[in-house]
Amino acid sequence: MKIILAGTTGFVGKEVLTQCLSHPSITSIVILTRRDLSLPTPNPKVQIYRMQDDDFLSYSNPDLTAALRGAHACIWTLGVVPSRAPDAQAIRRVTVDFTEQAAQAFTRECSGKGSRFRFVYLSGALAERDQSKSLWFAGPYRRVRVCIFIPSSRH
Ligand SMILES: NC(=O)c1ccc[n+]([C@@H]2O[C@H](COP(=O)([O-])OP(=O)(O)OC[C@H]3O[C@@H](n4cnc5c(N)ncnc54)[C@H](OP(=O)(O)O)[C@@H]3O)[C@@H](O)[C@H]2O)c1
Repeated sequence: MKIILAGTTGFVGKEVLTQCLSHPSITSIVILTRRDLSLPTPNPKVQIYRMQDDDFLSYSNPDLTAALRGAHACIWTLGVVPSRAPDAQAIRRVTVDFTEQAAQAFTRECSGKGSRFRFVYLSGALAERDQSKSLWFAGPYRRVRVCIFIPSSRH
């Protein structure tokens, strides 16, 4: 199984990578990262792709799309907390726009005939699906923490 990981330099993503490295069914791992990421020991099943900021919004680079092709699933632990973001727009960009663009691109590049791409999105506590619900605290952040995007897929 080929898997795409994003957020691998983070607290959760590091552990997800460790688990994927030791899982015998996962034979290929593509890591999307904006920062240098060094593994304790080089592993032939890992391919690290250095993303520029724009790459998260446009999966048009042929090297990037080639790296993704053939993947079966993604574990998306890329995310930002309000204390580390300058404003609500920046949070929305990372939380919603990056995730939507990734889901669209992965579906386009990786879904094959008879195969279904799986996108695992790591949300957060108290995320609110009901976008019209009035919330007492952290309303804007909790509303964007749900993955409401449904990719237009051939399946
Ligand atoms: N930690 C928890 O207990 C917990 C519990 C439930 C849910 N979550 C959720 O799980 C996700 C990951 O949490 P975490 O604790 O692992 O967070 P973290 O340690 O802050 O890691 C965040 C990851 O997202 C990447 N990232 C953030 N902003 C980015 C941007 N603008 N462009 C590219 N990459 C960006 C970071 O890359 P850089 O290293 O390059 O910054 C890092 O790899 C978050 O969405 C969080 O809300 C966490």
